Amino acid sequence: MHFVIPAKVIARKRDGHALSADEIAKFVDGYSQGAIPEYQMAAFAMAVCIRGMNLTETTVLTERMLKSGDRLQWSPGAPKVDKHSTGGLGDKVSLVLAPLLASCGLQVPMVSGRGLGITGGTLDKLQAIPGFRTNLTIDQIRSQVEAVGCVICGTTTEIAPADRKLYGLRDVTATVPSVPLITASILSKKLAESIDSLVLDVKFGSGTFMEDPTAARALAESLVQVAERLGVRTTALLSNMNQPLGYSIGHSLEVREAINALQGVGPEDLRILVLALGAELICRHDPSLDADQAKQKMDEKLKDGSAYEKFSEMVSAQGGDLSRDLPVCSSTQVLATRAGWLADVDGDGLGHAMIEIGGGRRLMDDVIDYAAGIELFAKTGEWIDKDQPIALVHAAPGKAATVTSQVREAFIIVEDEPSEFRLIADRVSIEDVG
Ligand code: URA
Repeated sequence: MHFVIPAKVIARKRDGHALSADEIAKFVDGYSQGAIPEYQMAAFAMAVCIRGMNLTETTVLTERMLKSGDRLQWSPGAPKVDKHSTGGLGDKVSLVLAPLLASCGLQVPMVSGRGLGITGGTLDKLQAIPGFRTNLTIDQIRSQVEAVGCVICGTTTEIAPADRKLYGLRDVTATVPSVPLITASILSKKLAESIDSLVLDVKFGSGTFMEDPTAARALAESLVQVAERLGVRTTALLSNMNQPLGYSIGHSLEVREAINALQGVGPEDLRILVLALGAELICRHDPSLDADQAKQKMDEKLKDGSAYEKFSEMVSAQGGDLSRDLPVCSSTQVLATRAGWLADVDGDGLGHAMIEIGGGRRLMDDVIDYAAGIELFAKTGEWIDKDQPIALVHAAPGKAATVTSQVREAFIIVEDEPSEFRLIADRVSIEDVG
């Protein structure tokens, strides 16, 4: 590797110049190999955070972070696909979608993350199932995908190690909210799965990473453009989280709701989002189907038991035992104190209540209470009577009382009937953004 002068690269970015591919590659490689220290990477990340990066720079950054580690290798077989969500309250889509796609003949190597802050992580949710293992080796991931059709597991030390190192640094240097850095971070891990296509669920609204829809769209466009430039067919849906997905928040409760959805009896908003995301992938690999036909095919797999059967196979391959009860704390009812129309359910408020009752993490090593959670009884656009039960808080003794008013206030009840809630606000494909 030729030497680069890190301070010069940082200064050029600080002054708003586009960096050359060579400068970015050597900077990232130097950081991965330990030749560039954390303090210089922190300064670089801050310069990127403030100045941004153009598409070419973001693509090179992503590629170098991807190449800092290994990629999964596949023998020829069914198309490999995946979904990534930017995270939102009650988001249990992965638990339903991965086995559902596998039951439709696609293979899904879903390397996923843990929850920090107010949105729960897929891996933590699955660990509410007694015995479920999320730390698999690359060989175990490969053989499970080939045998079962899907896996949902944590990242390994071999996958994008530069991202692991950089993400920890960004977390403590206020450099997480940057479209190019987020793009490179998400895609360096997803593209290491060597998938043929990817669908992104980029969420906006309360309690999400990008609350503003315009900012979420900018992230979606960046992700689609960079993934396509790196050879993976990708589309994104922009989904509205101004109310949680489904009726349950909390690890055990969400697994239970996902199982209902896998058996064709889950909440309607969850079903709509799962089918819309799944159709993006199914249609790409079977052009004889249009989106409605793909959704119908998936609906049949939910109703005839095949999707749930795949989920059970995946869970038992990863050591989980579905015959044992999921832990759920006893509950306390929350009543509405006024009548009116439900206009919004504040994800931020509910997310903080979840952390308070032990169902979320403040710090990465906080221990989660899988049995804690909140069940919601109403969706936006519904009429609420005074004293109507609107939620159930499941929490360890003494904890529910600390959050009941917070949970009640998360239900925004107004006098005028609100406009219709649109769950999927937009779709972004490479044809839209070039
Ligand atoms: N998720 C990631 O994996 N990386 C980011 O930078 C943000 C969210």
